[in-house]
Amino acid sequence: MSVIKKMDHKLSNMIAAGEVVERPSSVIKELVENAIDAHATKIKIEVLGFGMEKISVTDNGDGMSQEDAKLAFERYATSKIKSEMDLSHIHTLGFRGEALAAISAVSKVVLKTKTEDDLGSEVIYEGGNFVSSSQAAMNKGTQIDVMNLFYNTPARFKYIKSEYTEKYAIIDIFDRLALANPSIYMQLSFDGKLYKETYGNHDFYQLIDQIYGKQMTKGLTIASHEVSHIQMKAYLLSPHIVRSRKKDISIFINHRYIKNYRLTQAVIDGYHSFLMVSKYPIAIIDIVMDPSLLDVNVHPQKYEVKFVNETFLSFELENMIKKALQEKNLPIQENLSSIKKEWKQESFTRPSLLNEAPMINENDENSSEPLNKLPYLEYIGIFSGTYLLFQNDEGLYLMDQHAAAERIRYEHYYEALGNPKFAIKERLIPIELSLSNDDIDKLLSYEKILNKHGFNFHQKQLISTPTWLRDEEIDIAIESIFSQLDEYQKLDIKTLRDALAKDVSCKGAIKANHHISRQEVFKILEELRLCKNPYTCPHGRPTIIKLTHYEIERMFKRVVS
Ligand SMILES: Nc1ncnc2c1ncn2[C@@H]1O[C@H](COP(=O)(O)OP(=O)(O)OP(=O)(O)O)[C@@H](O)[C@H]1O
Ligand SMILES: [Mg+2]
Repeated sequence: MSVIKKMDHKLSNMIAAGEVVERPSSVIKELVENAIDAHATKIKIEVLGFGMEKISVTDNGDGMSQEDAKLAFERYATSKIKSEMDLSHIHTLGFRGEALAAISAVSKVVLKTKTEDDLGSEVIYEGGNFVSSSQAAMNKGTQIDVMNLFYNTPARFKYIKSEYTEKYAIIDIFDRLALANPSIYMQLSFDGKLYKETYGNHDFYQLIDQIYGKQMTKGLTIASHEVSHIQMKAYLLSPHIVRSRKKDISIFINHRYIKNYRLTQAVIDGYHSFLMVSKYPIAIIDIVMDPSLLDVNVHPQKYEVKFVNETFLSFELENMIKKALQEKNLPIQENLSSIKKEWKQESFTRPSLLNEAPMINENDENSSEPLNKLPYLEYIGIFSGTYLLFQNDEGLYLMDQHAAAERIRYEHYYEALGNPKFAIKERLIPIELSLSNDDIDKLLSYEKILNKHGFNFHQKQLISTPTWLRDEEIDIAIESIFSQLDEYQKLDIKTLRDALAKDVSCKGAIKANHHISRQEVFKILEELRLCKNPYTCPHGRPTIIKLTHYEIERMFKRVVS
């Protein structure tokens, strides 16, 4: 007797729903995307009981006829694609024809809708079953109320996290949808209280303020670049505003928010050492390309897309960002209190995650720009044996002597390591390496790269080293090579160059609490002036901060606001 049976529609819809509707925020994403596809210019989202009680999305888009409104809940019913051909030219956010079927399978849905010409109608579905349809008074557009989410799927109900987590997920998706649609007015309210709104006036400065809070556009860099008919635009918030997670790097392709490791990494690499260690920028990347180069049909939630030229695109994106930030000539960090907050408990360890941001070339090697990024500074003394004090017409400057020395040494070593013609010191007496056989084997498997950098081995001995490396720095260099291998499980010229330059420059730089002469101070200042990025040490800590006259006067309450 056959034991295999075809599932009925209801059951298969419920199973499919699990993939589309993970939590309340996924319902909002689907409903808002439908509104955007229906050309809405105003979208209101109302949430009760963090979405488990009710989610209501109202738009002023095209609306549906009563017949379509009923059909819309059928699985695989869509107005957006008609043939296989269309699948390779997706211009809309939805196309799979399954979101409404999935949502209505796990909740009660009341849909009211009206087109320009038809009368308004109302359709009700519950737990995947059609309940009723009737005429209803309504302005042009659509309103969908989703109630009692997951009432019939106890396993999913239990999976729902705390109110805070679910609200946070809703806000997160609202932010992305709003950032992707600067010309749509969007409003989000929780339990009857307006939480956020955007004006839909295409003003990106205002939009960023509305999403991330006031003052966030201070120091905003806008970069754009077109290559092979792909348009890229980036809104790069100042690297002084950082996050501990990568999640505020938003990438949109053809106005669709996507999650993509390579492109996100390209943004981080573009910011490179403008950022502190383990800190990430806030950036909005808007990429527009021919839809035929994209495959959006990877997962029902459509966050993942595949595109042919990912490596190329990542490279172009990283360079665009790097160039724009370098050209911006970012100002010295001004606000002492914010820096204090940021650095309070910072430990200056390397990023510990595997594959996490191996630092790469931050310098534009071909740049012939005259370098002198620091203003005129008059030296006035040393504070706490560590901070060099300077003044000029604009205020007081504190320079961390260790961080500054580190930056100068880093750029020097980085340059030396990048020069293929650098000299090699043959060792008359080879250096015995106190390493295990396994470690030696590990090193030798990267012999080619190491040779290129001037390290030559014979069995357990180093028979040559690069001339820029002092004898007392050899151990640091070997240690640095191993920590690269442990962390990233690979060694390439770029990462090795950066890591070696960082480690050697840090360990040999003037320490804090080390008294230095006036001559040494002037030397540091002049050498820092010539650096390509004098504002941070290679690990991203500030080298110099400025307290303006105004800030000092405010501290003494000479001015009030
Ligand atoms: N707010 C709306 N305004 C107008 N039409 C809508 C709206 N929401 C849904 N529809 C119609 O209902 C259809 C089904 O919507 P549904 O979200 O289930 O599928 P889809 O958007 O086509 O594809 P996907 O499953 O990828 O989202 C849509 O194709 C569209 O024609
Ligand atoms: Mg849809």
